Amino acid sequence: MAVSSRKIGYDEVEHRDLHFELSPDTVPRHWLGNNPWLTHWLNGILAPVPEGERWVMHSARAQLDKLDDPSVRKAAIGFIRQERTHAREHDVMNDIVIGHGIPLDEAEKLFVRIRSLMEKHMSDDMQSAMGAAFEHFTAIISSIMLRHPEIFDDTPPELAAMLYWHFVEETEHKSVSFDVFVDSVGGGARGYVMRISAMALATAIFVPMLHGNWLYFLWKDKQLLRPVKAAQAAWTLLVKPGLARKPFISEYLPFYKPSFHPWDEDNRDYIHAWKRAYNESGDTLEAYYAYREWHARKHDRANTAPWPVDLVREDEPRSAA
Ligand SMILES: [Fe+2]
Ligand SMILES: [Fe+2]
Repeated sequence: MAVSSRKIGYDEVEHRDLHFELSPDTVPRHWLGNNPWLTHWLNGILAPVPEGERWVMHSARAQLDKLDDPSVRKAAIGFIRQERTHAREHDVMNDIVIGHGIPLDEAEKLFVRIRSLMEKHMSDDMQSAMGAAFEHFTAIISSIMLRHPEIFDDTPPELAAMLYWHFVEETEHKSVSFDVFVDSVGGGARGYVMRISAMALATAIFVPMLHGNWLYFLWKDKQLLRPVKAAQAAWTLLVKPGLARKPFISEYLPFYKPSFHPWDEDNRDYIHAWKRAYNESGDTLEAYYAYREWHARKHDRANTAPWPVDLVREDEPRSAA
């Protein structure tokens, strides 16, 4: 499986050098579901994103000269360019959230310390394995968000458009770090042990860091004692749609299989819906709405996305329920 699926998705990686005009209006204090518990859960994930993106770029760049396969090298260069743009745009978003008084900068400083420890104590090959592990987390998060866009119904569309651009590009390059590692280090028993050790270590870093950030932001935002909001967030994360529960068995655990490859879960149809609309319009907001329409049709539901005024056309009445 791993060998046969290895080339899937290589032609998907495409760098789009986009600038998003985000502001405190389009990134409000509680931008996800009007719920501080849900918002700070995702803020806890997004806080280290700019520094994390720069580190995975750096670790992929260190392996470039060891790559035998020109298609892996080409995809790696596209991946590096994509991550550079993601880091820049998430810096803007994080600065706005910091402006609301939520200390994402302190959480990012913690990741800077973790990054410098990894760079000091790990070989380039082990950092490449860690990059593959962390990129699997971003692939999982992107996959679950692509499947459940309804959780962004209360998010300003301009911010959702930026996040969906990132989810799509994370999916486009979801196998690149993995294949860079396999091509540069080898996929035998040594490569397998390094890969699963890296995932165990990445999990031991990611899970406590996320929960620490989450509680710290809630505390600083004086939102810890909001039991109804906490219960709503717990329902969304653990029950319906189960954003944190669902991917554990179906997407996280398979990484430990010797034959695993990121494209074993082939979700290209999800990103193609966004890409078709973006390639037609050149507009991430239009692409987000087209994605919502496609997703609603695919799952036979009403499109519940709030339709922005400037996208309403006379011949195309709003289809949201
Ligand atoms: Fe990214
Ligand atoms: Fe990525």
